[in-house]
Amino acid sequence: MIKIAPSILSADFSRLGEHILETKKAGAEYLHIDVMDGIFVPNISFGAPVYKCIRKMTDQFFDVHLMIVDPIRYVDDFVKAGADNITIHHEACADQIETLKYIKSKGVKASVSVKPKTDPHVLKEYLPYIDMILIMSVEPGFGGQSFIPSAIESTRVAYELVRDSGRNIDIEVDGGISAKNVDLVTSVGANVIVAGSAVFGAPDMAEAIAQIRAAGDAAYKTKI
Ligand code: DX5
Ligand code: ZN
Repeated sequence: MIKIAPSILSADFSRLGEHILETKKAGAEYLHIDVMDGIFVPNISFGAPVYKCIRKMTDQFFDVHLMIVDPIRYVDDFVKAGADNITIHHEACADQIETLKYIKSKGVKASVSVKPKTDPHVLKEYLPYIDMILIMSVEPGFGGQSFIPSAIESTRVAYELVRDSGRNIDIEVDGGISAKNVDLVTSVGANVIVAGSAVFGAPDMAEAIAQIRAAGDAAYKTKI
């Protein structure tokens, strides 16, 4: 079974609380929280104080995606604000393994992400330290972009690295995913699907999530 992680970047921030409660009712397992610093990516979103407030509203799994340089500086803040998983970018710092170990030492899951043009084989060195790999299927920075097909091969490589290692590591894909194309990544091993505009832009959130899940699960069963 795949898990669905609606990205709140596509929510209406004036109704953030309501929107978040709606994602759980609609069947989403995770809440994907995109943190952007205007340096690693050309956009600024929100930081720990915002999701500290929403943490009080829900027990949902908070999947925090840090698109910030030198993320180790903020790990304590994000842990205190209630993160369940913290994802850092391979491209955002030089002390990735130290950062991942630090996140784990705080009792929080640790994950690493690669941008679409990064060779996914770099992920191999992280396997002993991570709970999840995040394959970006758009250039990070904005919701509502089109899926970049090279992410399919990156997902396949990540899945094979994990399978061959014998470790229990999830594979998440993020960017431009809807019920129409989710099969492209779940068929090669992705089991956590981020969806922003496809969930928050849909007339019926529960229906949108159910469709992504049905198409994603059907293809996941065909993976090697
Ligand atoms: C992009 C973010 C994504 C984005 C996904 O930098 O990491 O999580 O919000 O939104 P959609 O599904 O609309 O591409
Ligand atoms: Zn994201």
